[in-house]
Amino acid sequence: MKLSVIGCGYLGAVHAASMAELGHDVVGIDVDAGKIELLSSGKAPFFEPGLPEILASAIASGRLRFSTDLSDAQGSAVHFIAVGTPQRKGEQAADLTYVNAAVEGLIPFLTDGDLVVGKSTVPVGTAADLAEKVSAHSNALLAWNPEFLREGFAVQDTIAPDRLVYGVPSGVDGERATEILNEVYTSALSTSTPLVVTDYATAELVKVSANAFLATKISFINAMSEIADATGADVTKLADAIGFDARIGRRFLNAGVGFGGGCLPKDIRAFTARAEELGRGESVAFLKEVDSINLRQRDRVVDLVVNAVGGEIYEKKVAVLGLAFKPDSDDVRDSPALDVAVRLHGLGARVVATDPEAIPNSRRLHPQLQFADEARLAIADADVVVVVTEWNEYRNLVPSDVSSLTHGRTIIDGRNTLDPVAWRAAGWTYRGLGRP
Ligand code: UDX
Repeated sequence: MKLSVIGCGYLGAVHAASMAELGHDVVGIDVDAGKIELLSSGKAPFFEPGLPEILASAIASGRLRFSTDLSDAQGSAVHFIAVGTPQRKGEQAADLTYVNAAVEGLIPFLTDGDLVVGKSTVPVGTAADLAEKVSAHSNALLAWNPEFLREGFAVQDTIAPDRLVYGVPSGVDGERATEILNEVYTSALSTSTPLVVTDYATAELVKVSANAFLATKISFINAMSEIADATGADVTKLADAIGFDARIGRRFLNAGVGFGGGCLPKDIRAFTARAEELGRGESVAFLKEVDSINLRQRDRVVDLVVNAVGGEIYEKKVAVLGLAFKPDSDDVRDSPALDVAVRLHGLGARVVATDPEAIPNSRRLHPQLQFADEARLAIADADVVVVVTEWNEYRNLVPSDVSSLTHGRTIIDGRNTLDPVAWRAAGWTYRGLGRP
């Protein structure tokens, strides 16, 4: 099929390349000329495992091209909207400027029977508004098809998603939109991927409620880690034990410095703001608590670091291992790891931060920080080491190998990802969150 993908960020670039990989003929469109130039030459503008490979093969096959010109969407039968919906400056709500601009800009190039497919995460009610705009100016249809991809696994999650959700209009238009989407996703559907076909509002809510649930799960275990700290209990064992209950499950029960990234934090805030607009703020008021528990984890990690050097952090060298909001990503949007580095720097510590992929993005936002290309360089002569992103490289550090680098020999495990027994046996003082 001929597809266009409007917006070539973390979501759109992966979607465009993956759809071409599956055999579709795709044009990816973005207003950022630098990004389009990189993508056209087969280079990913951000770190995402597997993306450079599929970009190169799809471009070589002639099925994938990129453009800055929305008129290049003309001729495609399906148009995916994959632009960002960031948090509005100084507010909790989502900023729909880019979604509105993408749809309005696309309308003149739609032809009868085209399908516009929203993938961006939007406040409930957005799809119905956009559908009106689309139908007022063309004989095209609109569907909402939320994306659940995880950064670091984005290619795999796009090519073989764990479920597909279509929000479609009622009646024959809905049947037609469903048929078109089924054709787009033939490959996933042929492997019995679960499919939920529903109305716009439900499809929009599926996405935000899934992220709200995941955020709640993480904040729940972080709250338990605070209680564990107060009682000498071990939150990692507690998570293992409750996780054996199939109704609870062990995933997303890792206590630590908390969640970040381009989705979970802004999605729970936008959801709260939308619920308040709908007069149902009370229903999701708990999400404010989820957010504050999450932000508290950063204070806890900073406090652990300060206490580790006896309460006076000024001029002490702190090695910060990790800047990305999670491993296998260079994304530092709302990253707790980067925030911890910035806060320690603000307290007067000599912070040397490192990350396998996220240094360039971190440096752009916080040029005041000092960066080291390798963990060993960051750790050298540090008074205290703090792990805030659980890259394998840091999880696999052998304590005895790095012992000679520093006299401090104090490690704060902001992700509860290291083996306390091994570190203590090598003479280190180890502290995690909610771990004795
Ligand atoms: C998330 C959703 O998982 C995905 O379905 C949605 O489409 C977009 O948002 P992503 O932002 O890539 O994906 O990251 P995810 O893997 O969900 O992790 C989010 C944050 O939670 C990270 O900062 C991670 O470190 C943190 N986290 C995750 C924890 O602190 N503890 C856990 O147990 C799991």
